[in-house]
Amino acid sequence: MDEREISQAVIARLPRYYRYLGDLKDEGVERVSSQELSELMQVTASQIRQDFNNFGGFGQQGYGYNVEYLYNEIAKILGLNEKHNLIIIGAGNLGRALANYMNFERRGFIVRGVFDNNPALYGRELRRNTVQPMEKMEQFVKEHNIDIAVLAIPKDEAGNVAERLVACGIKAIWNFAHVDLQVPGDIVVENVHLSDSLMKLSYGIAKRQRR
Ligand code: NAI
Repeated sequence: MDEREISQAVIARLPRYYRYLGDLKDEGVERVSSQELSELMQVTASQIRQDFNNFGGFGQQGYGYNVEYLYNEIAKILGLNEKHNLIIIGAGNLGRALANYMNFERRGFIVRGVFDNNPALYGRELRRNTVQPMEKMEQFVKEHNIDIAVLAIPKDEAGNVAERLVACGIKAIWNFAHVDLQVPGDIVVENVHLSDSLMKLSYGIAKRQRR
């Protein structure tokens, strides 16, 4: 399978399939048809079949898909069968909320460290971590096999910190700062802007009012 041929739109839909299948698995459901999944997720059955065909169809035989198999296969595609060690840069409002959120660990994303450059925050406890000074970041990344850094710092600081992270071998950045990072092509960057989602919501309201 050549992953370059799979569209970003399909990849973007996989986490939602994964969540629904996880719920079905937890409920003890063993098999699900594309029609049932379609009704549950409000996506057409043909869309589901088309999406899954990108990955060889996941062996649908007779009545529907094997839930556990499908769940595990999607986990493999998303790289969720491996644990990821991450650090959070910035222990402000957002960084603290992320550090305190436990569900990331259920998905295999383990928060190993939290860093900030404000001495007033050093030593502050956030679940299993204490806030550490930025001077310790590079060594920590190398010693703890950290592959993901979460950037929850002001946008003016994000570029410099990203450069430092790249230099010490980070593989991926989950970027919450409102700035496009200039990093080498092999560094995976996922930008998250909650305000984009709010603007989509606002568009929905505006469209409703224009009717
Ligand atoms: P905050 O002001 O509460 O926290 C920022 C923290 O970053 C502070 O603790 C500060 O000491 C630390 N910091 C500043 N420069 C640093 C550096 N060079 N190295 C390490 N730590 C540094 O701000 P808040 O609300 O937590 O937001 C953080 C960032 O996330 C901002 O850029 C904000 O715009 C962004 N944000 C993005 C959202 C999104 O949806 N993308 C949602 C909320 C915030």
